[in-house]
Amino acid sequence: MQLINGKPMPTLGLGTWKSRPGEVRFAVREAIRAGCRHIDCATIYGNEVEVGQGLADAMADGVGRDELWITSKLWNDAHAPADVRPALEASLSKLGLEQLDLYLMHWPVAIRGNASFPLRAHDIFAPGAMPVATTWQAMEACVDAGLVRHVGVSNFSARKLQQLLDVARIAPAMNQVELHPYLQQDALLRFCATHGVGVTAYSPLGSGDRPKGMKTAGEPVLLQDPVILALADKHGASAAQILIAWALQRGTSVIPKSVNAGRIAQNLAAAKIVLDADDMRQLAALDCHRRYLDGADWVVDGGPFTQASLWDE
Ligand code: A2P
Repeated sequence: MQLINGKPMPTLGLGTWKSRPGEVRFAVREAIRAGCRHIDCATIYGNEVEVGQGLADAMADGVGRDELWITSKLWNDAHAPADVRPALEASLSKLGLEQLDLYLMHWPVAIRGNASFPLRAHDIFAPGAMPVATTWQAMEACVDAGLVRHVGVSNFSARKLQQLLDVARIAPAMNQVELHPYLQQDALLRFCATHGVGVTAYSPLGSGDRPKGMKTAGEPVLLQDPVILALADKHGASAAQILIAWALQRGTSVIPKSVNAGRIAQNLAAAKIVLDADDMRQLAALDCHRRYLDGADWVVDGGPFTQASLWDE
């Protein structure tokens, strides 16, 4: 995937959210051994030290830093401009790197540094009190300082992206959002394509290993969907591979998480699967605007966000 002002991003990456510290070093090393060149990280995942150990293992095996694409994300408690560069430097230090390829604002939500979960209204800044635009200026300064090649966002609606595009000196190169056949977000994809913003699909497999508190009773399970299982059967593939192939064919980057060597290899092999027009039609028909990650943590009584204002829908 070619990003604005930059080097191409390997489209299929490894997700590391929910990968336990004891497992993720192995997963990163295995993924890179199997040919993956894109690792998606974040401060809040709490495992960047071990991700860094996996990266060091891979580089000791002979993979060059310049062959790898490493993304990390600014957590919501570090949106104050003075906190941005130290947060990025802390991620670099944990990952054992001198520069990131991509640094994303994890959410369009700023919270107080000493906030503890569940959040209360005063833990969340009103958008005007800690504007995205000022946090963004501090991220742009990190590009100027050579600490990161590209900057972008995550969990941004088209409306919030437009507001950022209106003021950005360095345009956001990426919007990383939840995308899978139950949440296809076609309008957001069109908006991003029109404005040259790349899109990365997170939770492409339905994020079945989410903490229990982030699940709802009776929610549909993507990996068990009968249409997806039938397509898997047709292609001699797994359901996960169909989901990854679908994401790639829509022109998005995609970052399935796995800590299992066999599944990591299987997920990478999905790049070879070609879905035909009828397959794509069947998958398109599954759209039901189902968010597995609805940002409920940021929607609290008396707080500045509602579900509607968080997602602008
Ligand atoms: P594991 O890490 O044990 O492989 P998402 O990327 O949507 O967050 O989904 C991650 C979940 O999907 C994890 O539970 C992960 O388990 C599982 N997973 C990853 N790859 C596959 C696969 N090829 N088949 C089935 N489940 C998979």
